[in-house]
Amino acid sequence: MKRISIAIDGLSASGKSTLAQGLAKALNYIYIDTGAMYRAVTLFALREKLIDHDGNLNVSGMVEALPRVYLTFRFNPGSGRSEICLSGRNVEKEIRSHEVSRHVSVVARVPEVREKLVLAQRRMGEVGGVVMDGRDIGTVVLPEAEVKFFMTADLEARGRRRFDELVRRGRSVSLEAVQANLLERDQIDSTRDHSPLLQAEDAIVIDNSNLSIEEQFDHMMGCVQQVLHA
Ligand code: DC
Repeated sequence: MKRISIAIDGLSASGKSTLAQGLAKALNYIYIDTGAMYRAVTLFALREKLIDHDGNLNVSGMVEALPRVYLTFRFNPGSGRSEICLSGRNVEKEIRSHEVSRHVSVVARVPEVREKLVLAQRRMGEVGGVVMDGRDIGTVVLPEAEVKFFMTADLEARGRRRFDELVRRGRSVSLEAVQANLLERDQIDSTRDHSPLLQAEDAIVIDNSNLSIEEQFDHMMGCVQQVLHA
């Protein structure tokens, strides 16, 4: 059976990673969470004090420090997925904080940051047998991906999902703050000059505001099987 590349793009908290992980597991493919890479660079920037109290990024400092950003993925048999490491240390938990979510879009719009991460993502994707999720996978990172999905859901559903996830992790944050952050990130991610969030022309759109995970999985798996058996 041929091993293809599957690109999944979409809005923040649209359920991309849950479905991407599910598909990767079922197909025995590698799952690559590109959002985790942008989050890890943001964690680095926060630790290096490159972001001030008002949320402004020291862009030239960030670009200068970029060669010191060393990212890897390591498989965790406990969680059953690859987890991101910054300078060799697992930061999977730290990168999901509200603090990182608040600042990630300003880091992700720096062209030099994107160039570095896109290059690494292309290398990981070129072998096939991958499910990669993000904002620019079908358009910029893997434009040749055999299957592309674009996931979307209304703000209500996305806010509730992300809020429930943070509460499960023991974080105290209001639903309003989560929704405001999603709206703000969508706005910055969609309007930045350098590879904005865009739906690829050949992407299959999944609006999952009212779809269960099983329904989405079955639909997406059906699309993948069609390509695999074509
Ligand atoms: O998928 P996520 O919410 O974990 O992504 C975090 C941020 O990273 C998101 O606000 C936009 C950015 N991102 C990006 O610009 N390009 C990608 N391929 C993936 C994420």
